[in-house]
Amino acid sequence: MKVLAVTSEFFPFAKTGGLADVTGALPKALSNLGVSTTTLIPGYTTVLERLAGLLVPVAEMTLLSEPVMLRRARTGAGEILVLDAPSLFHRAGGPYNDVNGQDFGDNWKRFAVLSLAGAEIARGALPGGRPDVVHVHDWQAALTPVYMRHRGCSVPTVLTIHNLAFQGQFDASLLPFLDLPASHYRTELMEYYGGISYLKGSLVHADAITTVSPTYAREILTARFGMGMEGVLRTRRNDLFGIVNGVDEEVWDPTTDPYLPYNYGATNPRQKEKNKKILLQRLGLDTDPGPLFGVVSRLTWQKGMDLLATAADDFLSKGGKLVICGRGDRAIEQQLEALAHAHPGRMSVYVGYEEHLAHLIHGSADAIIQPSRFEPCGLTQLYALRYGSVPIVSRTGGLSETVIDANVAALSARVATGFQFHPVTVDALRHALSRALHAYHDGNHWARLRGQAMKARFSWDRSAREYASLYGRLSGVTIGQSTEVGSTEPSAGRRSVRRMVR
Ligand code: ADP
Ligand code: GLC
Repeated sequence: MKVLAVTSEFFPFAKTGGLADVTGALPKALSNLGVSTTTLIPGYTTVLERLAGLLVPVAEMTLLSEPVMLRRARTGAGEILVLDAPSLFHRAGGPYNDVNGQDFGDNWKRFAVLSLAGAEIARGALPGGRPDVVHVHDWQAALTPVYMRHRGCSVPTVLTIHNLAFQGQFDASLLPFLDLPASHYRTELMEYYGGISYLKGSLVHADAITTVSPTYAREILTARFGMGMEGVLRTRRNDLFGIVNGVDEEVWDPTTDPYLPYNYGATNPRQKEKNKKILLQRLGLDTDPGPLFGVVSRLTWQKGMDLLATAADDFLSKGGKLVICGRGDRAIEQQLEALAHAHPGRMSVYVGYEEHLAHLIHGSADAIIQPSRFEPCGLTQLYALRYGSVPIVSRTGGLSETVIDANVAALSARVATGFQFHPVTVDALRHALSRALHAYHDGNHWARLRGQAMKARFSWDRSAREYASLYGRLSGVTIGQSTEVGSTEPSAGRRSVRRMVR
């Protein structure tokens, strides 16, 4: 089975959040099942730099009047196709914004070209033929199924929604520049509140829609979480599936993590104390004993970081220490910085994106706080569990189904792995922090909770099986034998007569 994945992020080459973790890890887990994934990603400057020497040119095209070159590389993370389009992707800044954090004005074009390249590959633009399934991620790749259908390509498609808050909304006057007919501006296709939405186009066109936890799959059918897309999602509810994310155990493993001064596992979690001391010293915080809670997150409204900026005062005043690594809304960053200023030696805020610090916080903190207002899946709490940093989370989306609250029943059944709170308010978060603080001071209780957290398994194996089974149902291809997209060997998969898609 050959799958073409299209995505704007891919760990370890381009990452702003969990999307990259998922698209980087899933192909590895799928390959164990006989599914071979080729991932198409934009040729950002950093990607080209990191893959220099490995890239081989495979095809030249002109897409939406932009000359592009597809370059192939084989990496430890699987087969990659890099879309080298200098005018679109060779620039300073992140994947989506410039160095000042402003969205690039031509994002509509950058990601339409990415999507169109995906559609052309699906149509057989590369030697070796077409994939059996095309799997696109989020709005940046969402036009691929739209282009495929418009250009007569019937390869089955899967759209994964990682976050419905990002919908790729643009002015309808762009349609001709997208090489799509003006008639796509209709309620049943891409029209969305007077503009067009790439994500909506994909919600309409994709054969199957997945999102990253069963709970979020249910939530997005409601007005509260649907972000205006609940209507179209309800019309597709029979094709909508929730598949929870997993942990890339090669990247996130406290027993081998190269970023940790001291590695440890479930048998020797006390080693964390040594990491903690090093982290506290490095950040210039007091090294007296006591709980250190951490945050590794985008600092945004979604993540409830404004609530934390208010609720944490109580925890800090009671002897807790807090370390934060994140970036996001400037106002929230400032709120957190002000709190740190008010608690010298007790709280540190690193504003920025720092892989090393993220790992070190997981490998040092006693607890990790994730008070999200909504959370499609969340990976931070999964890493926290594995690293024995007890997660304190709001009861929403993937957080609600991956963390088991330390209530009386769960404690006596010895299955509790963290703390949940609801509703997502300052008071409820303050209460959850105080429950965690209380539990921390009961040493045995805390050790048991941490041990149970470390035993929770969210590996990719199970979720990859669910994706593989979905691909199989859509394509009718038997899983087990495969080649890569665009390779010259024929797909060994056998087509069965049963097609599960409309
Ligand atoms: P989201 O994708 O919504 O941001 P997830 O929990 O799914 O949330 O994934 C976040 C990913 O980004 C994790 O791998 C986390 O470690 C990483 N991350 C978030 N903020 C930072 C940061 N400031 N520095 C380093 N890694 C970060
Ligand atoms: C999104 C979501 C997050 C999810 C990640 C990967 O960014 O906000 O909950 O874990 O995608 O699927």
